Amino acid sequence: MTRRKLAAGNWKMNGTSASLKELKSLAEAHPNPNCDILICPPATLIDRAAKTAPEQIAIGGQDCHPNATGAHTGDISAQMLADAGASHVILGHSERREDYEESDADVREKVVAALGAGLKVIVCVGESLAERDARNTLDIIGGQMAGSIPDVVTGENLVVAYEPIWAIGTGKVPTLDQIGEVHDFIRLRLVRRFGEGVGLSTRILYGGSVKPSNAADIFDVSNVDGALVGGASLSAADFSPIVTALDNA
Ligand code: PGA
Repeated sequence: MTRRKLAAGNWKMNGTSASLKELKSLAEAHPNPNCDILICPPATLIDRAAKTAPEQIAIGGQDCHPNATGAHTGDISAQMLADAGASHVILGHSERREDYEESDADVREKVVAALGAGLKVIVCVGESLAERDARNTLDIIGGQMAGSIPDVVTGENLVVAYEPIWAIGTGKVPTLDQIGEVHDFIRLRLVRRFGEGVGLSTRILYGGSVKPSNAADIFDVSNVDGALVGGASLSAADFSPIVTALDNA
């Protein structure tokens, strides 16, 4: 089974109109990529990003509300993201799980809402350092997958991102063996739960301090189908070599 690789950038709470030029530079550097490229800018830029980005760059959101409409001040629904031109949404990022105490059940509801709005979802899972030190990593990942991913997914509309919390924005990266162990485990869980059709076609991204200098090694690990990149996705100069590494993987 060949899975098309995905280079996804999560700009988090960074970026203003001036940042849109990074999309143009990125597209110029990759007119015809072998992988999918996705940028998830802050919500304020989605509409303009979707209108200005060349077609080889997809645009996504970073969160959505589980309801389609209603009295939820400050929130954005999956339908609104789709209407603004997003094709994907990141759900269950550890920063949302921490800052807003999002539970697996909350994430699952959002996933259902996003799929209902026609979006593809990137569901994030990952252990804390304390959980890794206690050798609980696989239990944590298995529990998050069971709780956060609903039954209705397909290999087309689901992407799973493994992001060890202690590796996000820290410059610390797990060993390639540690990454491989978790990615193989996620693949096995997907196949067991959804069967080979969905299980083997779902892409599994690694995220956490991916940089131009470590990307090629990470992309060589089995069952790593791309990356979810934070800091290094903010500028085309940093993200482009990561896309190139994935193109060549
Ligand atoms: P980082 O963030 O690349 O800045 O470590 C990754 C993420 O949170 O998706």
